[in-house]
Amino acid sequence: MTVHFIGAGPGAADLITLRGARLLARCPVCLYAGSIVPAELLEHCPPGARLVDTAPMDLDAIEAEYVRAHEAGEDVARLHSGDLSVYSAVAEQMRRLDRRGIPYTLTPGVPAFAAAAAVLGRELTVPEVAQSLVITRMSGRASAMPPGETLENFARTGATLAIHLAIHRLEDVVAALVPHYGEDCPVAIVARASWPDQTVLRGTLSGIVAMHRVDPIERTALILVGPALGSEDFRESALYNTDYVRRYRPGYGS
Ligand SMILES: C[S@@+](CC[C@H](N)C(=O)[O-])C[C@H]1O[C@@H](n2cnc3c(N)ncnc32)[C@H](O)[C@@H]1O
Repeated sequence: MTVHFIGAGPGAADLITLRGARLLARCPVCLYAGSIVPAELLEHCPPGARLVDTAPMDLDAIEAEYVRAHEAGEDVARLHSGDLSVYSAVAEQMRRLDRRGIPYTLTPGVPAFAAAAAVLGRELTVPEVAQSLVITRMSGRASAMPPGETLENFARTGATLAIHLAIHRLEDVVAALVPHYGEDCPVAIVARASWPDQTVLRGTLSGIVAMHRVDPIERTALILVGPALGSEDFRESALYNTDYVRRYRPGYGS
């Protein structure tokens, strides 16, 4: 018996990996968070599978499901939104499984920031403009931010920021970032990327709060900020440069 943690992707049912879908298809138990995992994904589960919506459950109750399945010898598919490596709360579940000697695997998924970039039609790293992406969030009910991980500190680097769980604090985000990125810095809010009702607001740091007042987004949203989002006159990457192609791909361009 194994618990398979699976990244369900950002919303669209066809953005799960093949491995994730295949695991779903062969697990007689599936735990999922109903509000953030699309119902269509559950169609991969075998007929008669035990489907457990974890939305109203606490960690003890979720652990009890793993223990029950372990005792019954039933594999479990555990779906989490996006990818497992960020803000998924798998760490605490794995720790409990380790203590009980219950085996598990992890299958990655498409993270929300990647889905949002696709919606925007943007690469988040652009040569000589921004070569780093900071995946961050604001302090919230779930947990406080470590003291050094402030937006101001990240903003000093000029990197592209993908700010999670922060749409309700948009004004604070803008106030923290304007001194570093400037008022004209591009910003985009992508809500429910890849879901049928996805929405996008694009603007500048100085204008986005007013735009958001007119068109308020309260739901699952990412705030993306940084000069890479607006850059058009960047240098081309060396990767497909003719000299590079000649040197590393003999036969091309010679
Ligand atoms: C608890 S985190 C989960 C992140 C997830 N593990 C991932 O890999 O993207 C939830 C936050 O991720 C962002 N998010 C998740 N899905 C999203 C989507 N489809 N569109 C925009 N933002 C999304 C929002 O900021 C949301 O508040």
